[in-house]
Amino acid sequence: MHAMSKPLRVEPGLDYASIRQRAMRTLFDSFDALCEGTLVVDREARIVWINERYAARFGQPDATRAIGRPVEELIPSSLMRRVVETGEPILLDIMEVDGTAFVVTRLPLRDDEGTVIGAVGLALFDHLQPLQPLFTRVGKLQRELSEAQKRLSDARRARYTFADYIGRSAAALAVKRQAMRCARLSSTVLLLGETGTGKELLAHAIHDASPRSDRPFVSVNVAAVPEALLEAEFFGAAAGAYTGADRRGRIGKFELADGGTLFLDEIGDMPLALQAKLLRVLQEQEVEPLGSNKVIRVDVRIVAATSADLAQRVAEGRFRSDLFYRLNVLPITLPPLRERREDIEALCRHLLQQMAAGGSEPACRLDASALALLQRCPWRGNLRELRNTLEQAAMLSEHRVLGAEDFRGIVRPDDGPLAADPEDAAPLLDYRQALADFERNLIRRALAACGGRVVPAARRLGLGRATLYKKMATLGLSAPGSDTAADTADRAGNDGDDA
Ligand SMILES: Nc1ncnc2c1ncn2[C@@H]1O[C@H](COP(=O)(O)OP(=O)(O)OP(=O)(O)O)[C@@H](O)[C@H]1O
Ligand SMILES: [Mg+2]
Repeated sequence: MHAMSKPLRVEPGLDYASIRQRAMRTLFDSFDALCEGTLVVDREARIVWINERYAARFGQPDATRAIGRPVEELIPSSLMRRVVETGEPILLDIMEVDGTAFVVTRLPLRDDEGTVIGAVGLALFDHLQPLQPLFTRVGKLQRELSEAQKRLSDARRARYTFADYIGRSAAALAVKRQAMRCARLSSTVLLLGETGTGKELLAHAIHDASPRSDRPFVSVNVAAVPEALLEAEFFGAAAGAYTGADRRGRIGKFELADGGTLFLDEIGDMPLALQAKLLRVLQEQEVEPLGSNKVIRVDVRIVAATSADLAQRVAEGRFRSDLFYRLNVLPITLPPLRERREDIEALCRHLLQQMAAGGSEPACRLDASALALLQRCPWRGNLRELRNTLEQAAMLSEHRVLGAEDFRGIVRPDDGPLAADPEDAAPLLDYRQALADFERNLIRRALAACGGRVVPAARRLGLGRATLYKKMATLGLSAPGSDTAADTADRAGNDGDDA
């Protein structure tokens, strides 16, 4: 073997052409000795020469028998044919053979006129072992990256469709029909309605039914982002430009939603300064990330929602009228639950099933008395309140079929002895006292449901036994629930339990 480090001695009579030739021989011999695989093919990609080890690797112990055969017959994944056909080398590649990765180099061979007459391939698999940790690491990173990308794209997909908007009342059907019509257009949609009426659900459904459904659905809750960060959240920030939490810069939600839908939740809470900037973006369809002087064109469909009375905010000077008109292109007002009481039955069934999904117990049902009671409630928190109410009753009840008595103390019907609107009738309670009342009621019901036994009651409430005992002591409750003890505490004026 020629040692490549030894300088070639230029002897008299040795011209440069022969030095070059010797260098080539040296290279070839060295690689032949160092590599496990050396392969030469002709211009038709037939094997001209292959070393013994490489041939054996592909199941041909007698290398001479491979000569003249198309290269793929021996090495099915070979790219030598591509090299002779294109004349382009593949300097570095990884070829998989039976689950092992080889680093390979493939070079075209040319005659004096430059015509491709074949190709040489070198496979360095013997020397790959030190690289194995690197491959393992790269493979792991690649898997993590594709998982993260999948999670991200799942997060940016609509979570609800129109089928999830339950209700066959005239009011519900009208809203659904209107929203479906809007879905096909690309104009701005404004969703109005009290808290818990399904604005977010409908925003998802509109995106899902729109021609943009295979593009991202991105949402920003204006009320949940600190005012100082809102601008970067919306429009992005160039690296170093921004002194907030992230100095590396960030991609704004407008850019993330490009081609898709941007859901601006609680738009009524947007600070005035930002309203002006948002208006400009909506007009120009261009954003300028903070601290950068480049503008980015975006194609974004806006769905905005608010439970605030926007017109009133405009009148008070808290919301820009020009932005209001810009957003108010396709307004949809979601009906409150009390205006579609006939949907309550189907909604309860749906919500109870949803709550049971994933758990081991079957879904609870309502009997006629419970349904009649729930249909008489004011539901100021709409579906969110209905859901919480059902959750509480299901948790506290012994039975799978809930009756009106399972809701006592949890809800107050419109026409019940307790006022529909506590603001109108009952005196406004001190916060701590109201909380103590609530806790006392809840614990008393849990104890009653568990035959007065504290340990199962604690389990049902998701509290530790000691915690429950402590709370009971503070609230003046004894087990089994004695009204007298509680009443005494009430009269004494309870300080509540902040422990
Ligand atoms: N028509 C409906 N059918 C089934 N579930 C609904 C319906 N409307 C709302 N919900 C459910 O009620 C809950 C509240 O809905 P959502 O979050 O969409 O309300 P929202 O109008 O955005 O309320 P907020 O103004 O308080 O943010 C969610 O769990 C949602 O899935
Ligand atoms: Mg919402």
